[in-house]
Amino acid sequence: MTFQHHISLPFFSLISVFSLFTTAATQQGSSNAVAPGGGGGAWVLLQKTIGVSAMHMQLMKNNKVVIFDRTDFGTSNLSLPTGKTCRRNDAVVKLDCSAHSLLYDVASNTYRPLTVQTDVWCSSGAVHPDGTLVQTGGYNAGERKIRLFTPSNTTTTNSAAGAPLNGVFGGDGDNSDWVELPADLRVRRWYASNHILPDGRVIVVGGRKQFSYEFFPPSSPPSLFFLPFLNSTTDRFEENNLYPFLHLLPDGNLFIFANRRSISLDYVRNRVVREFPAIPCEKRNYPSTGSSVLLPLRGQVAVAEVMICGGAPNFAFYKSDKLRIFVESSRTCGRLRVSDFDPKWDMEQMPMSRVMSDMILLPSGDVLIINGASHGTAGWEDAVGPVLNPVIYYPTQTDSSKKFQVMTASLIPRMYHSSAILLPDGRILVGGSNPHVKYNFTALYPTDLSLEAFSPPYMDPQSSYLRPTILSVEATDNVISYSQEFSIKFAVGSFWLERDLTVALIAPSFTTHSFGMNQRLIYLDVVGAVQKIIEFGYLVNVVAPASKNVAPPGYYMLFVVHGGVPGECAWIKVN
Ligand SMILES: *[C@@H]1O[C@H](CO)[C@@H](O)[C@H](O)[C@H]1NC(C)=O
Ligand SMILES: *[C@@H]1O[C@H](CO)[C@@H](O)[C@H](O)[C@H]1NC(C)=O
Ligand SMILES: *[C@@H]1O[C@H](CO)[C@@H](O)[C@H](O)[C@H]1NC(C)=O
Ligand SMILES: *[C@@H]1O[C@H](CO)[C@@H](O)[C@H](O)[C@H]1NC(C)=O
Repeated sequence: MTFQHHISLPFFSLISVFSLFTTAATQQGSSNAVAPGGGGGAWVLLQKTIGVSAMHMQLMKNNKVVIFDRTDFGTSNLSLPTGKTCRRNDAVVKLDCSAHSLLYDVASNTYRPLTVQTDVWCSSGAVHPDGTLVQTGGYNAGERKIRLFTPSNTTTTNSAAGAPLNGVFGGDGDNSDWVELPADLRVRRWYASNHILPDGRVIVVGGRKQFSYEFFPPSSPPSLFFLPFLNSTTDRFEENNLYPFLHLLPDGNLFIFANRRSISLDYVRNRVVREFPAIPCEKRNYPSTGSSVLLPLRGQVAVAEVMICGGAPNFAFYKSDKLRIFVESSRTCGRLRVSDFDPKWDMEQMPMSRVMSDMILLPSGDVLIINGASHGTAGWEDAVGPVLNPVIYYPTQTDSSKKFQVMTASLIPRMYHSSAILLPDGRILVGGSNPHVKYNFTALYPTDLSLEAFSPPYMDPQSSYLRPTILSVEATDNVISYSQEFSIKFAVGSFWLERDLTVALIAPSFTTHSFGMNQRLIYLDVVGAVQKIIEFGYLVNVVAPASKNVAPPGYYMLFVVHGGVPGECAWIKVN
């Protein structure tokens, strides 16, 4: 049985597999600024400045990251390429020839400016099943806009990228840029949240003073669906329900969390299926910004659990904004098994209080809590006390003293308007922070234009021998269908498989304001034993997710994780 699937690995590919193990560590470690301190993990400054503060980020299937902030506060520090139309009569400057968006290429660590036409400030997004980013809303002329960004099919690698010019790269034949659609959203959407649905549509929920949701492409005739829940969760003076947390549940309904309450919405029939108990303690949504993830799903099981961390007590925004009193933010996380008959919040304490932190599902199945502050709230100048140490939460750890582990600190405060996303190699891309109305490089928490990478402990050089390298995914054109069994060939540096092997699909998130929209991790069931096919080479059979409710169609990062150590992902399409 073991040797039935014969593949012949050419000798040179084994050499290159080997060199991957030996060079990966040194590349990760080529740091400009490694922060001191204990903990675990490591920081690398990737770019001192990309010219734009990374308020919104989305990783595309070609390993490039779309980044943008806003267009109505004067020029950024990145020029538009010649030939691109400058923006006239901006609120702050007469003529703005700077870029407010860019495309960052992960492999070559280079970027080039992109052109947004209208204001994308505090907007939302989701990736369509065809790989195109659908980004909606914003401010003023942009508040009802729908914009598309279709990734190019060209992908750069380190060697193909060539020498970057001042970090700006444009010579790889990738001319992709933003396209604004003529048709608008039904209403303005500022601070709304989006989610991709099993039928391939995008749902756009809420936004400031918008107690409704709508779809892209629009339903026929285009309709707006009233959702009283968004009204009844609005606090006087401070709202506390913007950028609602959305999670698509394996039963097909949409979990919506706002303020301290949550519901399950049947968006097909416009019916609230159930309301869950309110989370104890603090408020969790903008400006009392906490974060939320759907904990790892299993491809064939309909169990779903939501985890929400951080936030701020009632009136925290009012106090910081009006009285300049910065109250301590939330220390609590809550877990709710929403698929239970009678779910209850299970509360835990983080090692430190946090507001405006991002939560990121790591390929290992653990949750990274990163960025943010310890006092105050989101909003202009409304927080102090940056929390520089990320924390990793281990959901399956039973020893409560080991559930949260404090990681090495960054040197850079990441306050309001910062963001963080998972990269294809398992690192975390961290950028942004601008708590000021305009760019301000002299304030206490200056506008930050840098990009950093945080490497969780699984990237430590001493774990290199465990790291799997995917050699091939046995699926035609890397497309898999629901419940399909398929195999993955991979190599590991050790002479035998030492530890547990898991295979995970991760949907890349649209991240802004501390929430990763559409983020989900699905463990694939492993069929039979892992087979050794050649020295260092293995084959594992897995089953694709059972349904579109578990994994809405689209592009996913496929990670093989060996002993908790992921290798670089392969992109596959689930359809
Ligand atoms: C951005 O540009 C301004 C004006 O040229 C300059 O003063 C500032 O230092 C630049 N900021 C960064 C982070 O490069
Ligand atoms: C990329 O390739 C796919 C499949 O070959 C094709 O359908 C698509 O149009 C291409 N996209 C671009 C932007 O060239
Ligand atoms: C929102 O709720 C308030 C108070 O419950 C009510 O007075 C108001 O009419 C509601 N607004 C909408 C648009 O339903
Ligand atoms: C930057 O922030 C500092 C401190 O809050 C303030 O004094 C200064 O006026 C700001 N500069 C600009 C250009 O807004």
